[in-house]
Amino acid sequence: MAKKTLVTSALLYANGPMHIGHLVEYIQTDIYVRFLKLIGEDVIYCCADDTHGAPVSINAEKQGITPEELISGFYREHVDDFKRYLVEFDSYHTTNSKENKYYSDLLFNKCKKNGFIYKKKVMQLFCSRCKRFLPDRYVKGSCPKCGAEDQYGDVCEKCGASYKATELSMPYCSICRQKPVEKESEHYFFKLSVFSAKLEKWLTENKHLQKEIVNSVRHWIKEGLNDWDITRDGPYFGFKIPEEENLYYYVWFDAPIGYIASTENYCRNISKSGSADDYWLAPGSRIIHFIGKDIIYFHFLFWPAVLMASGFNLPESIIVHGFLTVNGEKMSKSRGTLYTARELAEGYEPEYLRYYYANMLSRKIADLDLNFSDFTDRVNNELVANLGNFCFRTLTFLEKNLDSEFVGIDMDNELIKEINNRVKTVHDAYKECNLKDAIREIMAISALGNRYFQDNEPWKLIKEDRERAREVLGLCVNIAKNLAVLIRPIMPAFSDSLQKQLGLFGLTWESIGFKLEKHRIKGAEILIKKIEKEDKEKKDSEEKEKKDSEDQKKGKAGTGKEKLMPFNLKVGKITEIDDHPDAEKLFVMQVDLGDEKRQLVAGLKPFLPKHELLEKKIIVVTNLEHAKLRGVVSQGMLLAADKDNVVKVIEPKSSRPGDRVYIKGYDDMQGMINIKQFMEHKRLVKDKHAEIDLKPLVTDSETIEIDMPDKSEIR
Ligand code: MSP
Ligand code: ZN
Repeated sequence: MAKKTLVTSALLYANGPMHIGHLVEYIQTDIYVRFLKLIGEDVIYCCADDTHGAPVSINAEKQGITPEELISGFYREHVDDFKRYLVEFDSYHTTNSKENKYYSDLLFNKCKKNGFIYKKKVMQLFCSRCKRFLPDRYVKGSCPKCGAEDQYGDVCEKCGASYKATELSMPYCSICRQKPVEKESEHYFFKLSVFSAKLEKWLTENKHLQKEIVNSVRHWIKEGLNDWDITRDGPYFGFKIPEEENLYYYVWFDAPIGYIASTENYCRNISKSGSADDYWLAPGSRIIHFIGKDIIYFHFLFWPAVLMASGFNLPESIIVHGFLTVNGEKMSKSRGTLYTARELAEGYEPEYLRYYYANMLSRKIADLDLNFSDFTDRVNNELVANLGNFCFRTLTFLEKNLDSEFVGIDMDNELIKEINNRVKTVHDAYKECNLKDAIREIMAISALGNRYFQDNEPWKLIKEDRERAREVLGLCVNIAKNLAVLIRPIMPAFSDSLQKQLGLFGLTWESIGFKLEKHRIKGAEILIKKIEKEDKEKKDSEEKEKKDSEDQKKGKAGTGKEKLMPFNLKVGKITEIDDHPDAEKLFVMQVDLGDEKRQLVAGLKPFLPKHELLEKKIIVVTNLEHAKLRGVVSQGMLLAADKDNVVKVIEPKSSRPGDRVYIKGYDDMQGMINIKQFMEHKRLVKDKHAEIDLKPLVTDSETIEIDMPDKSEIR
């Protein structure tokens, strides 16, 4: 009997919409699973929404709804988005389910019974104003490892370290900003430290794991593993621990158990055969996880150790991918590069994104970049001009000139041999998850088809030798049929419509070959369309108008069109300042913008000494196109006022780094602007106020002031 395989993707957080970064993973996994199904393996793909923990309850509180309401709303959205992007799960469950409660208790009790969980009194952060413990995201401060500011109480988003909330330096309550006190509480700890040798062995002996990751995880083991606090004090959105009053499982304890719960959901409620045990306990089954590089610690240390401690099967492989950047930069809301899955689908065919991502995915964990002009080029020049063109010309030629009929072919043919070799390479590439290589070979096969068609000039043959023309087209149809199978994991909808036009249905890997003969095709239609740049722009502006008029109906902006800032501004703080290596008048500054750091280059040297600028709060234009100033990149610009050769930097008083600076009633704009567009707006001081387009700038806590005479220019 075939080996049972379970494939999973990391569980998507239920506290927000899916974005195009998440999609990298779900698309990668889906392609892999579709391939395994195509070659006839006994495989299921299970996943779930990750619903517990502080972010969900914080978010729900903000919106004035219950956590359950919040997660059920996002669950529906996520399921919709997956459908849109053709990501097909066998089970998409939720961690807030009875199955997950059952397995969380089961694994907890097994670990406890086996002596791997113990209770210990610990000091926890407690906010005396909010009268509550502050788990994880309820507290912020500086990372104890790398010093990054404004990090949450569990993991640092900058360096990836995981630590205890009490280790944060300069902690503050994220609800009321008060400094917390420490208060004693009794927690459960998992003995991660005793698994060091076993984990080390598992990592070194497992030939499926990516080398570069194994090395860094072994390094963590060598540095010494700390026991893991798997509980949180209430109030907390999660499962209560058996026999405890006010203690809950930490979200990262029950989240991976969600993999098991989703498997159980599949077996009991969907396929109605077997149980999760067939995958998680039975010998000879196979578990493969896909994850992003930010959650390696959890999946390569905590999770396997918990599985070992409770006697469950370990994953055979954990495939790790890098992070998505957009046009070369980290995705961020303020730069207008954070697209939700839904937003992108409004402008681009979801299947094209699958193709584009697959083009960048391999077993490397390097980051991937979505560059929109490259995206358009690849779709137009590869997908449309090569694959689409070959299939379409084959089908139309047959339909127009040969009554849709072709004949079988002589199999002793060099071209067929070459294609068969390449098919083998595609197979191995998919199996190894080297999607990039799979695509390269598929496109090469399609190019061979195009060349064969061209070289044999069937448009001449139909006049001279119709039988020969039918043979040539016979080979072309067989290639097209093979392409329909080969591309199927990546572009299932394209494959379906190609199969339909070919008059075929339900092709599998076994259907690959050249034996199709004496068959009538169904008819030709355009399979795939170019991305027209103008079309795209037109669509965008129509979307915008539609949105504006909807907003108007909802009474959002009152006066009609919503009012948007001419450019976006934020409070920053200069954390480092250096002389520009090649320019007399320029400083190079590192600036903290709350949720991100940027480098600015500014011509302030003739006016202000370094020590006066260091640690100063400033206002930064955040969506100005980045520029190189004498070879050094500047990622924005700070605002200063200038009159008669006196220059002063505009300095917010009570606001904090990351706070928005704006004109009252105005929302931030989308996208980037250039310096010329910036200059087109009036930027003057009036009555000691900094004004843009004659309106004063404010933050949530102050009106921005600057001690300069009227009509000083701001730039
Ligand atoms: N809920 C946890 C996972 C628990 S698994 C038991 C989580 N959720 S997440 O929603 O933040 O991320 C889901 C997956 O998307 C993770 O594997 C994460 O690495 C991946 N990505 C999130 N942002 C990404 C990019 N910008 N680029 C690529 N992958 C990204 O982590
Ligand atoms: Zn508080």
